[in-house]
Amino acid sequence: MALGHIFLPATVLVFFASLALAFDPSPLQDFCVADRNSQVFVNGVACKNRTQVTADDFFFTGLDNPGNTSNKLGSFVNLVNVDKLPGLNTNGMSVARIDYAIGGLNPPHTHPRATETLVVLDGLLYVGFVATDNKLYSKVISKGEVFVFPIGLVHFQFNNGTCPAVAIAAFNSQNPGTVRVANALFGTRPPISDGILAKALSVDTNVTSYIKSQFQ
Ligand SMILES: *[C@@H]1O[C@H](CO)[C@@H](O)[C@H](O)[C@H]1NC(C)=O
Ligand SMILES: *[C@@H]1O[C@H](CO)[C@@H](O)[C@H](O)[C@H]1NC(C)=O
Ligand SMILES: *[C@@H]1O[C@H](CO)[C@@H](O)[C@H](O)[C@H]1NC(C)=O
Ligand SMILES: *[C@@H]1O[C@H](CO)[C@@H](O)[C@H](O)[C@H]1NC(C)=O
Repeated sequence: MALGHIFLPATVLVFFASLALAFDPSPLQDFCVADRNSQVFVNGVACKNRTQVTADDFFFTGLDNPGNTSNKLGSFVNLVNVDKLPGLNTNGMSVARIDYAIGGLNPPHTHPRATETLVVLDGLLYVGFVATDNKLYSKVISKGEVFVFPIGLVHFQFNNGTCPAVAIAAFNSQNPGTVRVANALFGTRPPISDGILAKALSVDTNVTSYIKSQFQ
């Protein structure tokens, strides 16, 4: 009984502490515009001298331009993170425009640091994410519809409509990070050995070396 009383608040504390760590830290001042020239390494980017900060540090233009989807996957992601918009530094968010050709795929990937909210501006997308129990949650969404991909979970979008599609994605990190599942296995430098990949996938090593050759 007495032990339970001590244990419960401790558990709650650990739970909330870990929740806080799962997201970008909150700002401790009005802003901290990323200083690309700083030699200081911090969690995020060091602040630019406030006297040199201008409105342009909080500005990005060009998301009205369609991305070039003439590539193997038929999709293009224009991610406006802290690298492109220095005013995002310490504000815990970023945005992207994603274009999909007909049949275009934004292949299975995760964002280790962000939940993503996807808004379809035009077209039809078959979207889905996979939970840690390997259950697939998928749906076909169209113009004006929104889908959320929870932080860290593998997800994808596929344009199986009859016209090009475009969507806007919002992230709760200034630097969501992207891990493409296929590239993380078959496109690493140096490569993961075929023995390891073959065993992991229950196939012959000639299969893994063939897939690897597609990611050179
Ligand atoms: C910031 O800029 C102002 C004006 O140029 C300068 O006086 C000040 O020393 C700078 N601060 C730092 C820490 O460099
Ligand atoms: C789109 O990318 C393809 C392949 O890289 C290239 O040939 C083409 O010129 C690009 N189109 C535009 C409009 O930039
Ligand atoms: C898109 O794919 C989903 C899943 O396979 C399917 O349910 C849906 O009917 C497809 N829509 C079109 C327009 O092909
Ligand atoms: C791998 O080797 C097996 C057995 O030799 C063969 O049947 C199969 O076609 C090969 N697969 C590839 C992708 O080369």
